[in-house]
Amino acid sequence: MSARLERVFHCDPEVFRQNFNHLPHEVKHTLTPHPLFKLPALAELAQRVAARKNPHHPQGDIHVDREPAPTNRKVHLHNWPQKNGISKLVEDIEDGKTWIILKHIEREPGYREVFENCICDILDLTGSGIVENIKWFEAILFITSPNRVTKYHIDRECSWLLQIHGNKDIHFFDRSDKDVLPDEELEQYWMYNNRFSAIYRPQYESRAIVHHMRPGTGVHSPVNTPHWLQNDNNVSVSLSINFQFHESAWENLFKANYYLRRVGLTPTPPGRNRFVDRVKRSTYTAVQSVRRNIKGIPDVRTADSRQDYNRIVRLLASR
Ligand SMILES: [Fe+2]
Repeated sequence: MSARLERVFHCDPEVFRQNFNHLPHEVKHTLTPHPLFKLPALAELAQRVAARKNPHHPQGDIHVDREPAPTNRKVHLHNWPQKNGISKLVEDIEDGKTWIILKHIEREPGYREVFENCICDILDLTGSGIVENIKWFEAILFITSPNRVTKYHIDRECSWLLQIHGNKDIHFFDRSDKDVLPDEELEQYWMYNNRFSAIYRPQYESRAIVHHMRPGTGVHSPVNTPHWLQNDNNVSVSLSINFQFHESAWENLFKANYYLRRVGLTPTPPGRNRFVDRVKRSTYTAVQSVRRNIKGIPDVRTADSRQDYNRIVRLLASR
């Protein structure tokens, strides 16, 4: 178990209490000078993540997405995932329109301690009782080329995006605004796990709240809050500290509504009637459990995630 270091995540407790998993709001952090987030260290990290023998995701824990490079100096993806290819990829990010995602970096030495400090600071603010509703925790690193745009989407995680290097804008929309995000899109998202189920409607761009992220700042992104991002003319390094709730806490309510709509009913939108929400969620969860038992489908939480989860619980208990 790691020693508790100084506080790295900061937010006014009252602002946090009023807005947690409800509305985006700004936070602060102290990670920008940390040597593990300099580009050479990130190149090494990318190599380690790419070389994982037991990735969390079957397709691997590194994701590289690039648009055609604006200059003749191409990103050397043809070497990837060879050792030098990864280094070159990170070095060349300044010249490309590239987006590198490194998932579950909390499994790597050094980054684990950073993650644990952040998540414990956050759970101090949420109250430790929330861990019962959490399926797993994660730290994701985003390295983004200058001027790169991240398309409009929604996420399943409850997250805090901490800006470590570079500036960028994040455009948030109110998830309860049904002009912007109809319930049908949320139901499709949860049923088919497609982050682009949410459709961008440019006529509502004026409703966006734009946060200008700069090193040392961050934003809280509640589950399913629509957003898109525009990087400034600089390389951006951002760390997402996040967790996913159990399916029974959030996801299964939307899945229940998906099936109700399919049989011709118009389900009550989530949040309008707590009793109805609870009945639908628990009914769907019970049916899902029976189906999984019949089919022999195990709980999706991996052994690594379970270990990480248990370590966080112990860490919280020791404070
Ligand atoms: Fe996102």
